[in-house]
Amino acid sequence: MSLAPSSLRAWRGPIVHSVADPAEVGLEASYEYFADGLLITEHGRITGLGPAETLLPDLRQDAEVIACPNALITAGFVDTHIHYPQTDMIASYGEQLLDWLNNYTFPAEQRFADSEHAAQTANVFLNELLRNGTTTALVFGTVHAASVDAFFAEAAARDLRMICGKVLMDRNAPEYLLDTAESGYNDSKALIERWHGKGRLHYAVTPRFAPTSSHEQMTLAAKLLHEYPDLYLHTHLSENKKEIEWVQALFPESRHYLDVYDRYQLLSERSVFAHGIHLCDHEYERLAETGSALAFCPTSNLFLGSGLFNLPKAEAHGVNVGLGTDVGAGTSFSILETLNEAYKVMQLQGAKLHPFKSLYLATLGGARALRLDDRIGSLAVGKDADFVVLDSHATPLLAHRMQYATSLEERLFVLMTLGDDRAVRYTVAAGNIVHERDAAPDNRPPKPTSI
Ligand code: GUN
Ligand code: ZN
Repeated sequence: MSLAPSSLRAWRGPIVHSVADPAEVGLEASYEYFADGLLITEHGRITGLGPAETLLPDLRQDAEVIACPNALITAGFVDTHIHYPQTDMIASYGEQLLDWLNNYTFPAEQRFADSEHAAQTANVFLNELLRNGTTTALVFGTVHAASVDAFFAEAAARDLRMICGKVLMDRNAPEYLLDTAESGYNDSKALIERWHGKGRLHYAVTPRFAPTSSHEQMTLAAKLLHEYPDLYLHTHLSENKKEIEWVQALFPESRHYLDVYDRYQLLSERSVFAHGIHLCDHEYERLAETGSALAFCPTSNLFLGSGLFNLPKAEAHGVNVGLGTDVGAGTSFSILETLNEAYKVMQLQGAKLHPFKSLYLATLGGARALRLDDRIGSLAVGKDADFVVLDSHATPLLAHRMQYATSLEERLFVLMTLGDDRAVRYTVAAGNIVHERDAAPDNRPPKPTSI
């Protein structure tokens, strides 16, 4: 990892980036491609983008040029829903949502009262994100303020654009993980004052989901959003049938699940709801009207048997959608693998996910869902220099299959279907190389400590 003050660099190779939603402008107008492109970065920002032959003659002599053959350079991936503490229990066997939470998730989250433990997992988590080309994520901590301090400290050390929040949870969970409405409010406020707007860090008010917050806690969550208008609201919505029945029983006055949050005025352009699988038309309408976003988390929805997210319906209603891995219910940190599963979720509903739409969801669409598209999500000049260099020959199978790919969209589709962390050659954040696959010792399996 190189975190020297970012100097003038030019990355040369095939460059593709999303510039609009294919649903709005059509496939062809949704991306820009340079077969032999140059991406110039300085002081953490993108300062040039275009054909190499046009830009090279005027490139300053002191620029370091990095050649990227057999590559696709694109914007850093955006993960709009993930839990960093669940790195410790990803791949836990056999349960659907509510039992999975009780049997695996809550016991693992208990350990984050210890800031040493939190720092260790935050370090592993951020290394995983970067190994997979994800440069921005909307992240759940645990109920412990220390978990968020540890996360932000690690993210700040890498100069990453990250969003995180302390979980608010004052009922219907084990005693050892509960806050109170008042302590949740006070702890969140202190974290906001410490971290929000510092460097590239942002804070999200994070009630876990409707069943685990009291009326008083929801009211105070709304108060925080009112006091700091540029905070995010991050929670779960309509993921699992038993969860939905539980919410109906707890909030009989609410018209539907989303209405619980709506009544507390938690819907806005800065609200992100994970899942939203079993929604009625009115819920889609309210999401669209308020500019709220849904995080589509296919590996999680398949792993927990939650259901199939209806992307065409969300699109038809004009709801913003980003892609989420939802680790640890999700089974991969890789946005490429997440796109592979998203494609299959669409197939099961008789729909197609075009590779240019996938590229959009993984980058600019995620940035839009997070209202960060003025800073990240594409390679436009002036944006943060957050990008990835994907290796289209990363594995023997990829190299073999690529010989027969005859178009950009086919190459993209093959990368999204067969690619994973091995396909990420470099990850760059704020112009710094924060992951270099072929130099990273953590890409080798750890030595066994005993036989
Ligand atoms: N609903 C409430 N908490 C969680 C969680 O940690 N993961 C998922 N997938 N759904 C939730
Ligand atoms: Zn989640």
